[in-house]
Amino acid sequence: MYRTHNCGELSEKDINKKIILSGWIKKIRNLGNIIFIDIRDYFGITQLVINKSLIRNNLGKEFLIRINGKVVSRSSKNNILSTGSIEVLVSKIEILNKSLIPPFIIEDKTDGTDKDRMIYRYLDIRRSIIKNNLIFRHKIMLEIRRFLSSKDFIEIETPILVNYTPEGARSFLVPSRNYQNKFYALHQSPQIFKQLLMIGGIDKYFQIIKCFRDEDARYDRQIEFTQIDCEMLFVDVIDILKFFEKFVIHIFTKFSNFKITKPFVSIPYYKSIKYYGTDCPDIRFGMKFNELNLLVNKENISILKKYELVIGIKIESFNYFPIDFKKNKIENKNIFCIKHKSEKKFLLYNKKILNYDEINIFSKFFNTNPGDFIFISYGKKNESRFLLKKIRNEIINNLSKKNDFTFNPIWITELPILKLDSNNNYKSVHHPFTSPINEDIHLLKKNPENVRSKSYDLVINGVEVASGSIRINKKSIQKLIFNHLGFSNKEIQQKFGFFIKALEYGTPPHGGIAFGLDRLISLLKKDDNIKNFIAFPKNSSGKDIMTNAPS
Ligand code: AMO
Repeated sequence: MYRTHNCGELSEKDINKKIILSGWIKKIRNLGNIIFIDIRDYFGITQLVINKSLIRNNLGKEFLIRINGKVVSRSSKNNILSTGSIEVLVSKIEILNKSLIPPFIIEDKTDGTDKDRMIYRYLDIRRSIIKNNLIFRHKIMLEIRRFLSSKDFIEIETPILVNYTPEGARSFLVPSRNYQNKFYALHQSPQIFKQLLMIGGIDKYFQIIKCFRDEDARYDRQIEFTQIDCEMLFVDVIDILKFFEKFVIHIFTKFSNFKITKPFVSIPYYKSIKYYGTDCPDIRFGMKFNELNLLVNKENISILKKYELVIGIKIESFNYFPIDFKKNKIENKNIFCIKHKSEKKFLLYNKKILNYDEINIFSKFFNTNPGDFIFISYGKKNESRFLLKKIRNEIINNLSKKNDFTFNPIWITELPILKLDSNNNYKSVHHPFTSPINEDIHLLKKNPENVRSKSYDLVINGVEVASGSIRINKKSIQKLIFNHLGFSNKEIQQKFGFFIKALEYGTPPHGGIAFGLDRLISLLKKDDNIKNFIAFPKNSSGKDIMTNAPS
């Protein structure tokens, strides 16, 4: 018998019981004749007291041992441990397996480098912080399945080895053994198949599914990641937003103590760019961009008049200078800062291009008080937005470290259906199956870049956690989109003939969404590194440095 109890369950009610425990040695304290050992397993840590005479072989950290002993009360209680009021007086100790010296400290606070923690991931998983993340992930997945099933969604598996579909990223290819020189693609998402399920009359589908994209990994991005993929029949944008707002509130209130702001805000894409300079705005601290061109013209601030866009934000009562221009590499750029120092005193930073009266104009406009800052950028539209976004992000980073944490979701809707890439070719902003909004369909042939789509992204605290759309269900529109993406009618037939055909069999209106599970969990746990929530993640260049894949 390896154990009568686990290492996390003994308490005062077990005093005097004879027990057997198995676990890894976490800590050894040698007090001469008496040795204290903490042993650890999945469930917790128990303190052992061992008479030195019982120990025949050397012991070390991470040795796996089995002990027989008796539970006794502990004189100095440890309130942090579940077993902190007892210890075990050992009568027999056996080494089940030795261990090499671990390459890093297996504690919540480790000295392990990212690289070592990846190479020895099995040791990293022994750290309760990572183990608990995996348990948390399991519980969330369970609750998601329960919630969606209770709302009549059914989980259906779709193929992973598929034909290539243009979804925005590069696909991984798998050579076929039976068909020489032919390849499967690993799916980037179940997009086409979930739509085919809808055409098949399935009313509500979901799937928790791995997706594969050959792109650069980042702190919030892996080449292999998990989606909560959903699709519904007979819905329009508002139905999806309403339902998944409920879903998100349910999950966030169940799994986090932080407040989630409701109802969720929703703004069209163009406003997101206008007010925040990004389609992924963190709206926790306000700080919308103010467009200042009218003011600049009215007040005749000549040095700024010639610029296409002048925008500014106010930061209220900061007690230190909120940004390092040099560190952010913007000290030579078109941006300056006004600090309202005291009643009538202002300081100008970075570009000293305004006189006192002009500074006063901005101060009045923003209604500043001593302690407030104004940042103003100017230039071409994209550039001035980019600069001010940088400042805004940096300030939000600082603010979020010290402020109470809340979740502030925002739906970004009506993304453009297509955009021009650097080679002047059209690319889908979401994916090619996204429906245009009804009012813009007439522009689809001639002015496709001005067409808005029935799409939506859910952004929480600046993280895109989900994305989806209402789909095209008419063959003619789907073909037109493929044409814009550069496919000839012949290529459409060859590559997507099966799908275009399916659209001709009474395809119902349908739409859906996919959440990034890894991102959702890391957001809930306030740790932006999604690797900490994946059992065996790849490194930032897509490599598994433990197994050495790819090889
Ligand atoms: P999209 O490509 O936007 O949409 O993906 C949906 C969500 O998945 C997450 N995500 C990722 N997470 C980690 N690593 C990645 N490389 C990664 N890429 C995406 C994001 C994102 O919001 N089929 C459509 C969905 C739909 O239209 O229903 C799709 O895949 O959180």
